[in-house]
Amino acid sequence: MFKVLVTEHIAEPGINILKSQPDVELTYDPELFRNFERILEIIPEYDAIITRSGTPVNKELISKAKKLKVIGRAGVGVDNIDLEEASRRGILVVNAPTGNTLAATEHTMGMMIAAARQIPYAHKSLKDERRWDRKKFMGVELSGKTLGIIGFGRIGSRVGIRAKAFDMKVIAYDPYIKKEKAEKLGVELVDNLDTLLERADVITVHTPLTDETRNMITRKEIEKMKDGVILLNIARGGIINEKDLYDALVSGKVRAAAVDVFVKEPATDNILLEAPNIIVTPHIGANTYESQTNVAVIIANQVLAALRGEQVEFS
Ligand code: MLT
Repeated sequence: MFKVLVTEHIAEPGINILKSQPDVELTYDPELFRNFERILEIIPEYDAIITRSGTPVNKELISKAKKLKVIGRAGVGVDNIDLEEASRRGILVVNAPTGNTLAATEHTMGMMIAAARQIPYAHKSLKDERRWDRKKFMGVELSGKTLGIIGFGRIGSRVGIRAKAFDMKVIAYDPYIKKEKAEKLGVELVDNLDTLLERADVITVHTPLTDETRNMITRKEIEKMKDGVILLNIARGGIINEKDLYDALVSGKVRAAAVDVFVKEPATDNILLEAPNIIVTPHIGANTYESQTNVAVIIANQVLAALRGEQVEFS
């Protein structure tokens, strides 16, 4: 029997797949990620662990996981997993990179429009304060503006396609992709980050969080941007330095920002919550019924294949 531990909420179809396997004994405790000490206590018994981004699968956890064969990440980002330690111990790490692409893309588009038109502020003013304040909420149009996409992978490229339908000029910076891929989509791939920073009216980041991308956007990079730029981070907390973004919102250098992800989550006391002209959501970029079903099914099947020594399809 393979013992599988799921420490966060994953959608029912994925859980049902795991439950229905005769060779699997499943522990599904979607709130367990809040109790790291308990995870450390029980992890030695398990052959597999499945998490979202809330469980730090760090060196400490991996060192106690004597039987662990596979770590399943129900989502894209593996920044909560110590990959080096897992690989050193011969533990396979699998994720579901394709499952929530559209959810994150659509959340980005929603956040972009919301930031450009201050929709949440206008909503709050009318609904909570019963004010009919038409003058206060002046926005900017996206049409004719330049969108700069940092990271032109699955999500970044889909954001680009949608932005073109809004008549935006789209430029992208991504040292890992070929110019032709961008050109095919009518997107100009620029050679360096500074060019993008200088030319874009709206900037959105879609890279994983790595040593290379952590603090990719700090005060120094923000200074190179146009005055009144709109900045979006629906990717990972820490790609844009939080304190520097806060200062730029206060000074007005950045007109508006939209942020779904934070350095430390849950982020109920983050400095960005105090900033003006910012729209925040609690890491819900991937939260659609469709995407959560996708990632849950993908990860359940990947983990089963890995446990049984079958070929794992990296979708
Ligand atoms: C991801 O990495 O898949 C998303 O950020 C959503 C999540 O953390 O589950």
